[in-house]
Amino acid sequence: MIDAQGVFLPPPALQNWLCPATGRWRGLFLLAPNTRCPHTPAAMTAVHAQRALRDSLARFATGVTVVTCSAADGSPCGITANSFSSVSLDPPLVLWNIAKVSNSLQAYLDARHFAIHILREDQQHLSEHFARSDHTVYTGIDYSMSSDGVPILPDVLARFDCVTNAIHDAGDHFIIVGEVIEHSHDSGDPLLFFNSDYRSIG
Ligand SMILES: Cc1cc2nc3c(=O)[nH]c(=O)nc-3n(C[C@H](O)[C@H](O)[C@H](O)COP(=O)(O)O)c2cc1C
Repeated sequence: MIDAQGVFLPPPALQNWLCPATGRWRGLFLLAPNTRCPHTPAAMTAVHAQRALRDSLARFATGVTVVTCSAADGSPCGITANSFSSVSLDPPLVLWNIAKVSNSLQAYLDARHFAIHILREDQQHLSEHFARSDHTVYTGIDYSMSSDGVPILPDVLARFDCVTNAIHDAGDHFIIVGEVIEHSHDSGDPLLFFNSDYRSIG
């Protein structure tokens, strides 16, 4: 049986014996059926709950940003993020979240300065580029370095140059709060992200 999220679910009578992740027999251990396979019914219930939560969260339409900084060794970093939000006008604060498993986590935890770039509708390629796992690859990307050592992407819809104000531990993410020290914006339409897909206003 395949559920609404496309995950294999053995019939209830077989759930102790067939692995819901692989569909294979859990093993020849009649007295302790769940001891070998990590994909226990309880574990799979948690997987289903997380998928359902992701699906609900995906109904919130957002813009798309690329957050840049320099790593301690000076290499430029960039990561696609739609967790951006304004926080305060006085003082001027914004935030975004970074996953604790991100390859570039340390660079952003260490960085004193970072820049948040709001993408235009025709900049999906930048979002896709910086959503890759190696966030230090700038091959083919037009950028310059700010006086604070932050990679700056040209021709975006808006940009916020920030000094790290606070970092909050929040579950499997860190919330990074930045104080805006410089900002700029242009006319045009934003790139949107909704229901796990890119959209535009028109
Ligand atoms: C539209 C979009 C929004 C994203 N937003 C975030 C975000 O807010 N925070 C985050 O940590 N990762 C976000 N990601 C994932 C990262 O861009 C990146 O794909 C992920 O960190 C994979 O690299 P890693 O292996 O270093 O984790 C987003 C990806 C996409 C495509």
